[in-house]
Amino acid sequence: MGPTAVRYPQRLEKDQLMSAFTAVDVIRTKRDGGMLSEAQIDWVVDAYTRGLVADEQMSALAMAILLRGMTAPEIARWTAAMIASGQRLDLSAVARPTVDKHSTGGVGDKITLPLTPLVAACGAAVPQLSGRGLGHTGGTLDKLESIPGWRAAIGNDEFIAQLRDVGAVICAAGEGLAPADRKLYALRDVTGTVEAIPLIASSIMSKKIAEGTGALVLDVKVGSGAFMKSVDDARELARTMVELGGAHGVRTVALLTDMSTPLGLTVGNAVEVTESVEVLAGGGPADVVELTLALAREMLDVAGLPDADPAAALRDGRAMDAWRAMIRAQGGDPDAPMATANEVEVVHAQSDGFVESVDAYAIGVAAWRLGAGRARKEDPVSAAAGVVLHKRPGDPVRVGDRLYELRADQATRIPAARAEAERAVRVASVAPAPSPLVMERIG
Ligand code: URA
Repeated sequence: MGPTAVRYPQRLEKDQLMSAFTAVDVIRTKRDGGMLSEAQIDWVVDAYTRGLVADEQMSALAMAILLRGMTAPEIARWTAAMIASGQRLDLSAVARPTVDKHSTGGVGDKITLPLTPLVAACGAAVPQLSGRGLGHTGGTLDKLESIPGWRAAIGNDEFIAQLRDVGAVICAAGEGLAPADRKLYALRDVTGTVEAIPLIASSIMSKKIAEGTGALVLDVKVGSGAFMKSVDDARELARTMVELGGAHGVRTVALLTDMSTPLGLTVGNAVEVTESVEVLAGGGPADVVELTLALAREMLDVAGLPDADPAAALRDGRAMDAWRAMIRAQGGDPDAPMATANEVEVVHAQSDGFVESVDAYAIGVAAWRLGAGRARKEDPVSAAAGVVLHKRPGDPVRVGDRLYELRADQATRIPAARAEAERAVRVASVAPAPSPLVMERIG
């Protein structure tokens, strides 16, 4: 773990905590555009985590932060307080350099699946604590759970042992990491306060710093399928997170990448695993390979392994070997057949021309309506449901060509998904100008 410039808050005894501040004063300070003191931030985060500040008070504060913003020192302190609300893993028993990747979430974003074993095959250790999908974006754990036998939940000792022996772990974050964020994120989700850059940055970075990684690469998505719809907002979020990482001794860089179109040709769970395995076998769609390699190079660089060659590790099968070992270590069978859908509807082109656009958000909603995603945290997801694209923006099409297919467990799910997908895929007489996938690097 690198040096850190941050002092972490001390936990107060409960009676000291109750008399230190009042929630209303903290809310008023931010509501009126003031700056919260370190002591106020430490207090409100700790008191909320311990149930001494009510949900409605924290909702008011989150809304004040969304409307008024936070200064860099406030964001740094808020992040430190969220880290201090739980445990911080110590990965010093892992002999290799540790490096993680975090994506702000997109449609068809399966990059973690090929990237984690690829970077492990190149000599680093990748501790990936991942989440489940909510709404139109998919979750890495949901995708991996479509592999028969694979377990998302592993204990801290098993996590560290797998990191040491295999070099790659993708699993669910334990309850003990940044519990303040767990509680606050659930509240933001239902109070219209997710989209505050200080709160997003501190939420993501508190979990990544608490996980104990030595270095971090952020994939900040921009476009219709992403949280951040504009490059300016994405840049501000990326800069905020890169600074937070540095302040906490975690070498951090960010790439801004396009999320106006889904990544690859598949959106769903089992279909995305299959596409990831194609990439690990040396094939797969060009955009998935490009982003996997771009992120792998950044990760190896910040991990202090700049001479490693991830393209060679994809070609010569080392990345595939690491994938198989990683899946087996968590009970999965990498050779098991993947779930197939009962219902498949293929949609064909109605005119000649070129695919002008495939809107990421609408395809994400279509996959969700097919059953690949969930509306509430406790909903189940279908392994087999999803969208398979047969054409991407820029591809020429003729009347009758297959454009995409919709897969579901029940036929009743298809019409609403088809309505979304029809809005998403546009055919025009001229090809669109190509646009870069990796838009900017910050770090
Ligand atoms: N992902 C997170 O972990 N937190 C946020 O606030 C937004 C996205």
